[in-house]
Amino acid sequence: MANETRKVMAVLEGKTVTPPPIWLMRQAGRYLPEYRATRARANGFLDLCYRPDLAVEVTLQPIRRYGFDAAILFSDILVIPDALHRNVRFVEGEGPQLDPIDADGIAKLTMPDVRKSLSPVLETVRRLRNELPAETTLLGFCGAPWTIATYMIAGHGTPDQAPARLFAYQNRKAFQHLLALIAEASAEYLIAQIDEGADAIQIFDSWAGVLPDEEFRAYAIAPVKRIIDLVRAARPSAKVIAFAKGAGYNLKHYRAGTGADCIGLDWTVPLDFAAELQKDGAVQGNLDPLLMVAGGEALDGAVSRILDRLGHGPLIFNLGHGITPQADPENVTRLVEKVRAFKGGVR
Ligand code: CP3
Repeated sequence: MANETRKVMAVLEGKTVTPPPIWLMRQAGRYLPEYRATRARANGFLDLCYRPDLAVEVTLQPIRRYGFDAAILFSDILVIPDALHRNVRFVEGEGPQLDPIDADGIAKLTMPDVRKSLSPVLETVRRLRNELPAETTLLGFCGAPWTIATYMIAGHGTPDQAPARLFAYQNRKAFQHLLALIAEASAEYLIAQIDEGADAIQIFDSWAGVLPDEEFRAYAIAPVKRIIDLVRAARPSAKVIAFAKGAGYNLKHYRAGTGADCIGLDWTVPLDFAAELQKDGAVQGNLDPLLMVAGGEALDGAVSRILDRLGHGPLIFNLGHGITPQADPENVTRLVEKVRAFKGGVR
């Protein structure tokens, strides 16, 4: 089926679709009992990412249950450091752990052959495109270099990414080299995902919000632009969603600076500002993920406000960050029904 019947793709071309298409970040995850059941069959989280049969299954679960307009490849942003031999582990209850890297370690890194080292993930993409309903957009993804680098340097998640910020001030050249290498590997990886059937891609910069102005340009905008430039040089029609969580006012120059087709908005972005950003093209977001826990009138009111303010322009309805394990699956049903009932019309 041609791309134009995929609603998310139409929005990425700048069109207004009523009601807006919807998918949720982390839609395949622990809030779903069927995810937990499949997860229990894998030998740890990375094994789940690297077993195409299981990864396909968990990607499809939220599509079967809710009929979302997009499926996102089930994997993790940290498969890139894994391909760089940084010994990525997911420790139960503690989140990801890696061997922390220093300037010497960065100097020794070499470009991985991502088509080879990440071939199971690419196999998942290929199978997904065959198994998904024709009208469902398949999203590939990668992490932005800054966010990946924060995990590589600290060796784990931190509340404010102080280790990576400090490292960047003290070792600017090595840090720039690290970002450049991650950008190059990520572009190769995204091109391969597109070749295997991904319709569009999302770049996750979950930690963009901790950067000062100057560093935001150098570490959040420039490397994401580099990825998008490399991807478009190889696949000119590639469509990209860029999500810089917590970027606030810096989002003002994020679309033009990176070349992304759509800007992801976290839940703190005021709707007036979001509407301004939407004048330049598509936006995605930005419901507070906690409303998937709370439900009720708080959920209904917030959904209405987003639809009233952004539903008359190019919008992909989503949460402002990933859905949490505490979310009630019934609240997701309620959300999808409410969004699908939106008829547009006069403001
Ligand atoms: O959105 C989707 O459904 C696709 C799958 C996906 C996962 N991680 C699965 C996952 C995507 C797109 C990601 C991206 C990701 N991974 C990001 C960027 C987006 C964001 O949420 O900020 C980041 C920073 C990571 C790194 C990561 N992976 C962390 C910090 C954790 C631990 C936190 C947690 O929720 O446990 C993960 C693990 C992870 N990635 C899980 C899932 C479903 C949970 C692991 C499990 O099932 O035990």
